[in-house]
Amino acid sequence: MQIARDADFDPRAFRQALGRFATGVAIVTAGTPDGTVVGMTMSSFNSVSLDPPLVLFSVARTAHSLPAMRAATGFGINILAQDQQHLSNRFARALADKWQEVEHRRGGNDAPLLDGAIAHFECAPYARHDGGDHEIFLARVLRFSTAQEGEPLIFFGGRYHALAAGAAG
Ligand SMILES: Cc1cc2nc3c(=O)[nH]c(=O)nc-3n(C[C@H](O)[C@H](O)[C@H](O)COP(=O)(O)O)c2cc1C
Repeated sequence: MQIARDADFDPRAFRQALGRFATGVAIVTAGTPDGTVVGMTMSSFNSVSLDPPLVLFSVARTAHSLPAMRAATGFGINILAQDQQHLSNRFARALADKWQEVEHRRGGNDAPLLDGAIAHFECAPYARHDGGDHEIFLARVLRFSTAQEGEPLIFFGGRYHALAAGAAG
């Protein structure tokens, strides 16, 4: 058992414990007034509020995309399908051009929306909060769409997984 006291706090064990929480995988994109577009793989996406419709995600303070995320006029949240692991890996690296050969279109708020995602949320910035070594972004959903079919990509224990067919029916 790990006890979260300063002296013997083990960050690696903490990270592993957090990894026991299974999530989906999203690529969060942002567009800025000067035409910059960025995108990052994120498992910190979550729902917050139905009225107003709010979601959140948190961005590491070390992320190259952080300045553009702060300056963004719009966000695109792309919920990845099981067969989009390559996109998750691509947008989890600090590449100069993440967009090469990535099929996408611009949403109404200038943030890119990726083809093949099982859901898209087009959002406006709503609020930003301190989150320690991350910055927490709240975004207001303006439009969304869901694919009729498609299974989600799952992240658990530091690895990708697929839903088990027929589980927990
Ligand atoms: C499955 C997965 C989930 C991730 N979730 C987050 C997250 O929620 N927040 C974050 O800041 N980085 C997250 N990352 C790491 C970023 O995607 C990665 O640091 C990326 O390179 C940042 O891009 P940038 O430095 O070009 O902005 C995640 C990576 C993976 C593979």
